[in-house]
Amino acid sequence: MKIVKTAEEVRAQVKEWRKEGYTVGLVPTMGFLHEGHKSLIVRAAAENDKVVVSDFVNPTQFGPGEDLESYPRDLDRDAALCEEAGADLIFNPEPSDMYFPDATTYVTMTELNEELCGKTRPIHFRGVCTVVSKLFHIVAPDRAYFGQKDAQQLAIIKRMVRDLNFDLEIVGCPIVREDDGLAKSSRNTYLNAQERQAALCLSKAVKLGQQMAAAGEKDAAKVVGAMKELIEKEPLARIDYVEAVNGINMRPVETLDAPVLVAMAVYIGKTRLIDNFIIEE
Ligand code: PAJ
Repeated sequence: MKIVKTAEEVRAQVKEWRKEGYTVGLVPTMGFLHEGHKSLIVRAAAENDKVVVSDFVNPTQFGPGEDLESYPRDLDRDAALCEEAGADLIFNPEPSDMYFPDATTYVTMTELNEELCGKTRPIHFRGVCTVVSKLFHIVAPDRAYFGQKDAQQLAIIKRMVRDLNFDLEIVGCPIVREDDGLAKSSRNTYLNAQERQAALCLSKAVKLGQQMAAAGEKDAAKVVGAMKELIEKEPLARIDYVEAVNGINMRPVETLDAPVLVAMAVYIGKTRLIDNFIIEE
């Protein structure tokens, strides 16, 4: 497995692979990889001849006052996990390799970014769409793999690929959790022992919402209300949002008729964590 820094090196390698007739899968990440990322890489390796993992903390998707500087990084550890999961190439550019200092072109999204994380992170999805577009152009993969953990991101990327005619398939993968239910996240490393315990209120709220929906509750306000109540009992938790939206267009819904996404962002101390569940047809 190779680790490269520049788009040119990625293109040269992919060109070689294409000559051999190989298919290529891409797994975009910001590094500090865990079992959630690994599940994407393993799936990509099963469905493609070659797998590229991008490992890049993308500055354009962080707003002022967010955790760009403190975001955890460990390339050696990431490389070991990628190798084990079956990756063939890690693309680990510097910000200066990815962005011209005078760059003026961005990919923006309307409507799908108005609810959920888009409300409190106004420039986040512009940064995500821009960097993911660049990665799609650099790697030109057959398939790209994204986690359901970032459900709004997955919906936005699918829409962007459709709207802008990217010639690839987007594959959504299920949320990987710790044994006690906490969704795996690079940001879990920020939590101290007490916060780690408190963070369970997110997955407990997901479970409660799922149970209510499975029992036939259709009233979105009731389900969201019960989930909020559960989270508010945790003194270290502060809700950013808990919302039920249409699973395709991300507009708020009153009735839980599939496809629905019930998603939340909750601060545990200073750490902002997300979790969700979907109601499918
Ligand atoms: P990052 O947070 O590193 O996540 C990379 C990919 O791993 C995303 O598709 C995310 O949904 C998936 N992932 C994270 N935790 C997961 C879990 N517990 N189970 C399943 N999948 C999980 O998302 C980003 O990076 C960035 O926004 C990126 C798309 C790379 C653009 O910079």
